[in-house]
Amino acid sequence: MNAIEITGLCKQFTGKRMTKVDALKGLDLTIEAGEVFGFLGPNGAGKSTTIKLVMGLLRPTSGTASIMGMDAGQAESRRHVGYLPENPAFYDYLSAEEYIAFVGSQFKMETSLLAQRSEEVLKRLDLWEARKRPMRGYSKGMVQRVGVAQALVHDPEVYILDEPMSGLDPIGRALVKDIILDLKQRGKCVFFSTHITDDVEKVCDRVGVIVKGSLVALDRVENILRSGVEGYVIHLQLPVTASLSFAGIEALRRTNLVAEFYVPCNAFNAFMGEVNRTGTDVVLVETKRRDLEDFFLSLVRTGKES
Ligand SMILES: Nc1ncnc2c1ncn2[C@@H]1O[C@H](COP(=O)(O)OP(=O)(O)O)[C@@H](O)[C@H]1O
Ligand SMILES: [Mg+2]
Repeated sequence: MNAIEITGLCKQFTGKRMTKVDALKGLDLTIEAGEVFGFLGPNGAGKSTTIKLVMGLLRPTSGTASIMGMDAGQAESRRHVGYLPENPAFYDYLSAEEYIAFVGSQFKMETSLLAQRSEEVLKRLDLWEARKRPMRGYSKGMVQRVGVAQALVHDPEVYILDEPMSGLDPIGRALVKDIILDLKQRGKCVFFSTHITDDVEKVCDRVGVIVKGSLVALDRVENILRSGVEGYVIHLQLPVTASLSFAGIEALRRTNLVAEFYVPCNAFNAFMGEVNRTGTDVVLVETKRRDLEDFFLSLVRTGKES
């Protein structure tokens, strides 16, 4: 069974002066059990709208979404989900420990299991010391970490996290990435949104890029990175008197006996052919690739131009 299924999902909001905003335009997406999926898009792309529709917190204009085979909005579908909303806000007179206990009770967790899980998640999110203080005294990063902790407490199969790394410092971001990797190892499904490519590169199996309410790319991270190879920087060992041009490509620079050439993918065979014919030694070949950030930016830019 698929963990999350989204079919033809559309959402139109009525904005100021009755203007219509198409926040989501016919999204089709299937997330498998055990998959970590990064939902990447710039601000206002429709990520939170999608997540709220999947959680049944908004009604779609058309289309459907389901979690573990159950329609979005059915209370039963939420039992399997750990959900982190955007901008989590809690009853701030409660302490983190009280809030986690409240969430656990909503999932009808047995008392001793809840106590054990509460301790685990509070320690994991580095909130153990602060657990008895009212959350009104917490920093933004601490509140975000409470948000992540409450999504984990009942140990569900599916995690839907809206910008889980937002508002965190580098240590907090690394911590949340680690937690996502742990969940992946335990075979859980994680669907999370972000506008930062760095967040998805190391943890996701697949990435979907959403721009202006439409999915503009969907692929495995390694495919995106592999398809991004643009060329090579090839270092050749050359005597001082040697020609600095191979197959029409001029050296970028030379240092002592080594010259560097930038060779685009489509010129690689011709270049290496001439290197071999002249018996020149290759010292180093570096791959030059577009990274995920370049890929994302080019999609966002073309999305905006259309
Ligand atoms: N309640 C709402 N009423 C009107 N417009 C909304 C509402 N919620 C979101 N939008 C609009 O829908 C679009 C997508 O928003 P959102 O899903 O929050 O984007 P993201 O989470 O990717 O930043 C934006 O243009 C936003 O202004
Ligand atoms: Mg959002």
